Amino acid sequence: MKFFIDTASLKDIQEAQDLGILDGVTTNPSLMAKEGISGKNNIMRHYKAICDIVDGDVSAEVIATTFEEMIAEGEELAEIDEQIVVKIPMIKDGIKAIKYFSERGIKTNCTLVFSAGQALLAAKAGATYVSPFVGRLDDISSDGMILIEDIRTIYDNYGFETQILAASVRHPLHILQCAKIGSDVMTGPLSAIMALLNHPLTDSGLAKFLADHAKANAK
Ligand code: G3P
Repeated sequence: MKFFIDTASLKDIQEAQDLGILDGVTTNPSLMAKEGISGKNNIMRHYKAICDIVDGDVSAEVIATTFEEMIAEGEELAEIDEQIVVKIPMIKDGIKAIKYFSERGIKTNCTLVFSAGQALLAAKAGATYVSPFVGRLDDISSDGMILIEDIRTIYDNYGFETQILAASVRHPLHILQCAKIGSDVMTGPLSAIMALLNHPLTDSGLAKFLADHAKANAK
């Protein structure tokens, strides 16, 4: 399973990259705003800075919501770097834009997906990635993992190549559930990735190993 980090923080991206397990980055307008990035030139520069840190795909979301504007904005984003994946919302014009970009070899990530039907449409249009938001479904008492399972089944039934990118991942259990189901990618905050490291028996076991070593080697 690929690990993407869901942030626009260069510091967090660098930390995940330094761990050696990072496969890509996803961003969205809220995450860019959280980092205080505004204005077209600054936003474009920030995407380039992200691409310079990581080796994999970097999702950059369009703000436009009409077909023509999404094409114009997406083409500009795609020119920043070959790592850029144009992130497009799951709306009617978005599906048309995904089809347009897929026919021209530009990678896309269909975002704001909350149903299997939406994921089926994204795959039919040729999306590179589909982003079901598991955490936001959990927030409304609807099991986000059931959606991941349904999309996995549908894509496997027909051999769709669209990769399931589980988004809105909030904690390590989400990551493990995605891995068990067979999500191609998960994207989450640095905290969820780092939380996978932790186990109290690892900490106490290491402390004992080091203490025993120190005792045996004391003069
Ligand atoms: O980038 C989209 C998604 O991952 C957002 O997550 O936590 O705001 O629901 P969240």
